[in-house]
Amino acid sequence: MMACLWIPARRGRWQALFVTLCLFELSSVAGQARYSVPEEQAEGSFVGNIARDLGLDVTRLISGKARIITKGSRQYVDLNRDKGSLVIKERIDREELCGKTTPCSFSFELILENPIQLYRVTVEVIDINDNSPSFPKGEIHLNIVESVTSGTRFSLESADDPDVGINDIQKYVLKPSDNFKLEVQIQPDGGKFIEMVLQTPLDREKEETHDLVLVASDGGEPHRSGTVRIHITVLDANDNAPVCSQPVYKAEVKENSPTGTVVTSVSAIDADKGVNGEVSYSIANVAREVKNIFEVNVKTGEIKVAGNLDFEKSKSFQLNVKASDHGGHSDTCKVVIQIIDENDNIPTIQLMSFSNSISEDSPPGTTIAVMNVDDEDSDGNGVVKCSINSDIPFKMESSLTGYYTIVTEDYLDRESIPEYNITITVSDQGSPPLTSSKNINVKVSDVNDSPPRFGQSEYIKNIPENNSPGFSVFTLSASDSDWGQNSQVSYFLEEKEINGAAVTSLVSVNSENGVIHAVRSFDYEQIKWFEFNVTARDAGSPPLSSVATVKILIQDQNDNPPQVLYPVQTGGSLVAEMVPRSADVGYLVTKVVAVDVDSGQNAWLSYKLQKATDRALFEVGLQNGEIRTIRQVTDKDAVKQRLTVIVEDNGQPSRSATVIVNVVVADSFPEVLSEFTDFTQDKEYNDNLTFYLVLALAVVSFLFITCLVVIISVKIYRWRQSRIMCHSNLPVIPYYPPRYSDTLGTGTLQHVYNYEVCRTTDSRKSDCKFGGAGSQNVLIMDPSSTGTMQRIQSEKSILDEPDSPLEVS
Ligand SMILES: *[C@@H]1O[C@H](CO)[C@@H](O)[C@H](O)[C@H]1NC(C)=O
Ligand SMILES: *[C@@H]1O[C@H](CO)[C@@H](O)[C@H](O)[C@H]1NC(C)=O
Repeated sequence: MMACLWIPARRGRWQALFVTLCLFELSSVAGQARYSVPEEQAEGSFVGNIARDLGLDVTRLISGKARIITKGSRQYVDLNRDKGSLVIKERIDREELCGKTTPCSFSFELILENPIQLYRVTVEVIDINDNSPSFPKGEIHLNIVESVTSGTRFSLESADDPDVGINDIQKYVLKPSDNFKLEVQIQPDGGKFIEMVLQTPLDREKEETHDLVLVASDGGEPHRSGTVRIHITVLDANDNAPVCSQPVYKAEVKENSPTGTVVTSVSAIDADKGVNGEVSYSIANVAREVKNIFEVNVKTGEIKVAGNLDFEKSKSFQLNVKASDHGGHSDTCKVVIQIIDENDNIPTIQLMSFSNSISEDSPPGTTIAVMNVDDEDSDGNGVVKCSINSDIPFKMESSLTGYYTIVTEDYLDRESIPEYNITITVSDQGSPPLTSSKNINVKVSDVNDSPPRFGQSEYIKNIPENNSPGFSVFTLSASDSDWGQNSQVSYFLEEKEINGAAVTSLVSVNSENGVIHAVRSFDYEQIKWFEFNVTARDAGSPPLSSVATVKILIQDQNDNPPQVLYPVQTGGSLVAEMVPRSADVGYLVTKVVAVDVDSGQNAWLSYKLQKATDRALFEVGLQNGEIRTIRQVTDKDAVKQRLTVIVEDNGQPSRSATVIVNVVVADSFPEVLSEFTDFTQDKEYNDNLTFYLVLALAVVSFLFITCLVVIISVKIYRWRQSRIMCHSNLPVIPYYPPRYSDTLGTGTLQHVYNYEVCRTTDSRKSDCKFGGAGSQNVLIMDPSSTGTMQRIQSEKSILDEPDSPLEVS
């Protein structure tokens, strides 16, 4: 049988004291006391008044040597015998004493001696909230793949609180609770099982880590709590595709950039991490050619030049660079690459039309070339400037863009500049500019615009008379600065009559080389000079010509001996000069008159006495031919005096003539007759001589005439054709031989010699007739005659005297 008495004890701020007194009717145990004491009381804290509770007197306690007997090692409560109270002897830790067992108490016995009494005391230890909930680890690390679905549970280790009851863990709170909520399940054994449940899916790309705090709090007063940090690392899942950092990449690169030049760099960002975020680049969806021109670095996305960039072929490229991760996600980055033009193309010149020959009479503005100039570069690099060298009479005109014409600026003159080298230069406006040039050669073709030119307008040439026919007088030369046919000069004699004869009968001109030939032998005594015109004509069309006047001066030669005009030499009759015996010294017997048809020195006559019967009696004036006595005539002197006077001209060599002058020294004419016999003897001699001369002349004349008849009958036909006729009414040109001085002023001859030049078969045989002073001898030749001369002769003809004593040396 047991009776328990619960006595509520004092109730303090932090402790409640209950005293339970239970009295057991035990034979061995006199009484029982029961106390409650909060744990963790300080040493000496009051537990209970045992004496009172057991109904014992304090003295009894002392006398009875009351003491506490504890089983076990530790004694938590001690007895204060003097006060009869129980006090805490050692700190009581309920959790140590009982763990989770509740209620928690310990017992001991109080033993008294004299008499022995045994009391059992039970002390219940009351829990106080002296422990906080605690988690096994201060931090929980969780790795959660972002791809886990909502509802996935993650178990967490629960916290532990040694306290019991209300002081034990009452609730868990998870903060923040954006993604997770906490679920606490109470297991059948009373343990708590805490789980985090994913509510909103995780996105590593948004938040890579989550830091949560799990708070476990007990229900004590005041509350105690324990926390654990939950560090969640969101593991990446390859859930993101790479994304190009720009929608379009624009880049510029110069053409002809070397291989390896970096153009630009694309980058795509993959929000995933690690391997999932690795992006590789490749060029996609482009033509093979483009692929060969650019390359992209697989790892870095750097685009480099790999081939030849030619602005002129392609001005821009569009590349699609595919950025892909290993999970098959990809994005395509557009890259637009503009090629920048470099001045790498030389301007070109293309001749569209070109005439390499231009006539020199082309008017200014004549087009000689049309060309096209082009530069494949663009902008300034392709803007070309075209020019030609400036030292030529050509200019460049631009009609259409890129088309130029070269035209003449002035009249051209082939004779001064026969060809031009035109250098066409084109340069673009690049930096540095590129230029190219082309040479064209333009030949100026000839137009017959230059007449032949003689060196002089007049040529004066001397030609000695008696030249041989065909004698080349000199060479005329005219030059023509034209070219080819236009410069081929031919020479022509201008028709003209000279003294009634065609000029062609005097001279001829070689039409090719301009050599002037004398057609016949000239006789100074007939013609002293003549002039004619020679035309030089080129072979152009129309031909051009010019004229030069040639004056031929015939030089006299001493080809004529002096002719004695007086005294007249007659064969038959004797003429004698009479000298009276009374003649004084210096008596002018007679005067020998001679002329020389030559001129100048050749006609300068001197007279000398060659032979004389009496040299001492006569003298001949050297220059005037006067025969004078040089001494007094005496009776002893022969009646008949014969003087031979030689007349010489001053030519080289000189020619001479002799004349015999008969002088009769007598005072009366009968005296003369008596002496006449001597002269007749001479006549016999002369008759003999004349006979032989006549005979010889007859033979020669016969042969000559025979020949002439033959030749002329052959040629007469041609002559008629050629109509070269010598008219009988030819003008008569007076011919005055030079006058020579007459020392005494007497005996001056004033002859008028008339001659005619007629072209006959033997024109050189044209003869001359000389008449004495005041007389007129006209010799007319009939052109139709065959050399026969018709003579109209006045008196004193000397030449037809066959027995003339004239001597020709
Ligand atoms: C033109 O050029 C050619 C060849 O280069 C040269 O022989 C000729 O003399 C030049 N002519 C002129 C007029 O410069
Ligand atoms: C030569 O020709 C010129 C004109 O061309 C003329 O004046 C002159 O008289 C001519 N001379 C002769 C000798 O015919």
